[in-house]
Amino acid sequence: MAFVSTAAWMPRVVFVASLVAALAMASGPAAAAARGGRRVIHLRFYMHDITGGPGQTAVQVVKGPGPAHPVMPGSHFGDTTVMDDALTEGASAASRPVGRAQGTYTLASLREPALWVSMTVVLTGGAYNGSTIAVVGRDDISASVRELAVVGGTGAFRGATGHVLWRTARMESRDHVVLELDVYATVPGASPPPRAGAVRQGGLNLD
Ligand SMILES: *[C@@H]1O[C@H](CO)[C@@H](O)[C@H](O)[C@H]1NC(C)=O
Repeated sequence: MAFVSTAAWMPRVVFVASLVAALAMASGPAAAAARGGRRVIHLRFYMHDITGGPGQTAVQVVKGPGPAHPVMPGSHFGDTTVMDDALTEGASAASRPVGRAQGTYTLASLREPALWVSMTVVLTGGAYNGSTIAVVGRDDISASVRELAVVGGTGAFRGATGHVLWRTARMESRDHVVLELDVYATVPGASPPPRAGAVRQGGLNLD
């Protein structure tokens, strides 16, 4: 910004500039300008991890040879599950499908009930249909809110960085955990915009 070059104006200009930036951060296209053209996309959806019974979407592929886990009875260090979990707009499995979570989780802590998660969120409806988000991180299932990293993406999420807030929403059954995921992804201004004319996904795209 050229106007900040006049040193005598600096204190006032800096104040005004930060006020403008603060207002711009709040919402709208100005928010993108304030962050150098980057946009923050906030999505909320629910993930259904079903590890047994009818409609199973997650399968244990490695049974850790031991030691037995001290706080997760029946589990072993190294246990690894591969998943293709349904993502829905609401917490109910019957609500509108919005994508799949495809990847793995491994019991990677000797002492805590903490999983290492590595997955691709594949969006299959709405404005971001066809785009994917790469998510990696630690899921300590004893914590009420876990934070995982957004490490990249494709389509509208090309070059994304950010984080995911991850909560256990409810247990439908012993084998069916419902997780609530809030994704905050910052994408470069050059990323392809959401599909023109696509129906806005109520409840999914929050910003
Ligand atoms: C998502 O995109 C695919 C491929 O273009 C298309 O077949 C499908 O109907 C779309 N789904 C929705 C819900 O828009």
